[in-house]
Amino acid sequence: MNQDDLKRAAAHAALDYVPDDSLVGVGTGSTVNFFIEALGTRKHRIAGAVSSSEASTARLKAVGIPVFDLNGVNELPVYIDGADEITQGLAMIKGGGGALTREKIVAAVADKFVCIADEKKRVSLLGKFPLPLEVIPMARSYVAREVVRLSGQPVLREGFTTDNGNLILDIHNLQILDPIELETRLSAITGVVMCGLFARRPADILILATANGVEITRR
Ligand code: A5P
Repeated sequence: MNQDDLKRAAAHAALDYVPDDSLVGVGTGSTVNFFIEALGTRKHRIAGAVSSSEASTARLKAVGIPVFDLNGVNELPVYIDGADEITQGLAMIKGGGGALTREKIVAAVADKFVCIADEKKRVSLLGKFPLPLEVIPMARSYVAREVVRLSGQPVLREGFTTDNGNLILDIHNLQILDPIELETRLSAITGVVMCGLFARRPADILILATANGVEITRR
């Protein structure tokens, strides 16, 4: 099985967590793209989707799933999304695709966060994958200096603008021993729109596809 086969396996297993006649929160990324494909096969059983990016919205519409504005949604039973890294405690680094802000917003509304991932994403310590921060453009240099004070090495994601018109700083060389504390500190820097650590609100369920099959972890 290659990595795409594993992503597909995790994505298909996530269908079991999608209730009939409800809205589904949909994340962003290559693993989620397999999920959207699978969700398309049962589009008549769901009410529609709330999306975390323009890219996922386009894919959802292409398979015939209506996409709703989050502002009109009071109840979202489940949010399905991938991760760049995930720990045993289900804290994550997300935002490799740059959609972290909308992902965290949709996740905040959802009752349950189901993470779909292949085994390469599982880590014992977060931080090898550069941690994305979405920042307001005029605050870029200030935020970068503040990150250096916290011993991170910020690198501007060249040529990239988020769906919200902002920039991404990827923070390298972090060893994240206390993800909740770091998320709190980074989120508090003026000019930071969102931090790609998902630790204060981690996933509730991890569907991890491995060479030996799909493993489920619940928090
Ligand atoms: C998008 O901004 C990210 O948070 C993705 O969810 C994450 O990077 C996982 O992406 P892949 O499924 O492509 O690895």
